[in-house]
Amino acid sequence: MKKNIAVFASGTGSNFLEIYNAIKKREIDANLVVFFSDKKNSLSIKKAREFGINNFTLSPKDFIDKKAFEESIIGVLEKANVDLIVLAGYMRILGNTMLQKYPKRIINIHPSLLPKYRGKDAIERQFADEETETGITIHYVNQGIDTGEIIFQKAIKITYPITLDELKQKIHSIEHTYYKQIINQVLEDIK
Ligand code: GRF
Repeated sequence: MKKNIAVFASGTGSNFLEIYNAIKKREIDANLVVFFSDKKNSLSIKKAREFGINNFTLSPKDFIDKKAFEESIIGVLEKANVDLIVLAGYMRILGNTMLQKYPKRIINIHPSLLPKYRGKDAIERQFADEETETGITIHYVNQGIDTGEIIFQKAIKITYPITLDELKQKIHSIEHTYYKQIINQVLEDIK
């Protein structure tokens, strides 16, 4: 039976768009049952609305603590029978409430070869350091910042001269190629 995916994003949502298209083209063998953004006006939630995907936003500042915030999210995910949560530029650290509810069922993509350049602005920092190699990492999510078990990495060379925008494009393009493949792989492991 087809598995059910939820996508979480805070920002632009180019990876989300790629996942959405891959599901439509049946390159990802799953249903996209719900989209969540913690930002009410993010471009990604606008896309979800435009595509008619079941979507919702919640802001942690409307809850007394992270546990209450995550319990509300889980309420929606449970109704949708979500098997796998795919983070795609979701800018919050997950708490124990989510992690315990979905063990090995939450994955993230990060624009560096972890453990190098964990956290925010990874591309900007690699550019500033004039790195000659970069890449992407797809990993299970744990309580740390980009520290969960690594599922997949792809390295690429950076050839100079290059602008920051060009580097971002290069990295995003490999994210778009590989995230869908790895989502399929992870789905196969879910019984
Ligand atoms: C991606 O670079 C991803 O690796 C990181 O956040 C960025 C999201 O980009 N976690 P987008 O919103 O999918 O365009």
